[in-house]
Amino acid sequence: MPNNAVLTIEGKAYPLPTMVGSEGERAVDVRNLRAQTGYITYDDGFGNTGSCLSNITFIDGEAGILRYRGYPIEELAEQSTFVETAYLVMHGELPTMNQRATFSRALTQHAALHEGMIRFLEGFPPASHPMAVLSSGLNSLGAYYPYLSTNNHQHDLEHFDEAAAIAISKVRTIAAHSYRVSRGLPLNYPRPNFGYCENFLHLMFSEPYKEYVPTPEVASALNLFLLLHADHEQNCSTSTVRMVASAGANLFASVASGVCALWGPLHGGANMAVIEMLKSIHAEGDDGTKFIEAAKSGVGDSRLMGFGHRVYKNYDPRAKIIKQSFYKALASLHIKDDPLLNIAMKLEEVALSDEYFLSRKLYPNVDFYSGLIMRAIGIPDNMFTVMFAIGRMPGWIANWREVAQNSKLKIYRPRQVYTGPAKRDFVTMERRG
Ligand code: CMC
Repeated sequence: MPNNAVLTIEGKAYPLPTMVGSEGERAVDVRNLRAQTGYITYDDGFGNTGSCLSNITFIDGEAGILRYRGYPIEELAEQSTFVETAYLVMHGELPTMNQRATFSRALTQHAALHEGMIRFLEGFPPASHPMAVLSSGLNSLGAYYPYLSTNNHQHDLEHFDEAAAIAISKVRTIAAHSYRVSRGLPLNYPRPNFGYCENFLHLMFSEPYKEYVPTPEVASALNLFLLLHADHEQNCSTSTVRMVASAGANLFASVASGVCALWGPLHGGANMAVIEMLKSIHAEGDDGTKFIEAAKSGVGDSRLMGFGHRVYKNYDPRAKIIKQSFYKALASLHIKDDPLLNIAMKLEEVALSDEYFLSRKLYPNVDFYSGLIMRAIGIPDNMFTVMFAIGRMPGWIANWREVAQNSKLKIYRPRQVYTGPAKRDFVTMERRG
């Protein structure tokens, strides 16, 4: 059986089937391992575990390759838009002219929020973190659209296009409204004649006395940022979405859980953490040199944020693309001398020639530059991760759909190796002291 792996346990050999993905990725199929052997696999952090079969995104971290539905990220960044790429990620093919127009119309139709939902958002305290508001807002869509969120996958899939358009369109409106509410600013209503990114910037920054009109460079930097975040295979938030979906949960509940996972600083929160790191380096009068030494020594929590990646052991291809557009956006905003940018460039220069980072294959990831772009556009620091969530929405939706469409779906339910106390007798209160 040349295509079988053989596992020998306690002297007995067990053949395990192997499998190969469409890009040559190899896996050992352990689905029957426990039934066959009584053993389970242990893989803390899931670094060696394939949790699903997926047709959406391919990453070769060693080679620095990222493709959505087979299309290289570089070609999409050059020739596509976020909205078109969202369609591709969710549906598997680039849209025809008609499909693209129908999708855009649906996004426009669903841009505004129910007035009751606006009052719900207004109820949050001004100091609320926008990621808390965003996940609540997205989950509440299930309350506003009960017929799209029945938790019956077959039924929910029949309304997939509508639910997906609502999620992609409203995530942007919820995000912008929560920003305006937190600042006590009047809300802006979406404009049907604006594109996706222009509308978001209008919702965020227009004032009753002055409409915000972004420069084309700024709108295109935002468009690129969102496109580059559209999907990224089985990362922490996407796996969370799939986990929740595997129990039968509806699309809105599943993507809301993705927002919660993304909030963590080791995942989507990293873009905000990069800016916080740069600010603190600046406040200490360091140019980055001292910080690099601290990051290498592992003292405190001085990791070089925006560097390293679980999958990429090479330059993150998204980082390369975003870095180029960043300078165009800066020029259009007439930003010449930003001390945080200078520190970031110094950190990058030093880290990329330092043995510690080279030997561990730690290169800049997308978050190293994306926070700087957001900052230049005027997005407040605590909303950086929200921007990531807006961009990742198509990927979460596509993954939810893949789970919901799986006719052989099993609830995601890993096992564990229990390391707690062995069986013992209950201790009464009198004996506990
Ligand atoms: N600064 C300094 N040392 C680092 C860093 C860093 N940013 N990242 C990893 N290391 C070291 C780590 O200390 C360890 O060293 P040693 O072998 O001596 O113990 C080695 O590199 C391997 O690190 P790891 O934590 O085992 O690697 P991981 O694959 O579990 O972690 C990571 C990946 C992204 C969580 C980590 O690199 C990190 O914390 N980076 C900073 C946070 C960040 O930028 N996150 C955004 C990821 S990109 C957005 C996304 O796709 O979600």
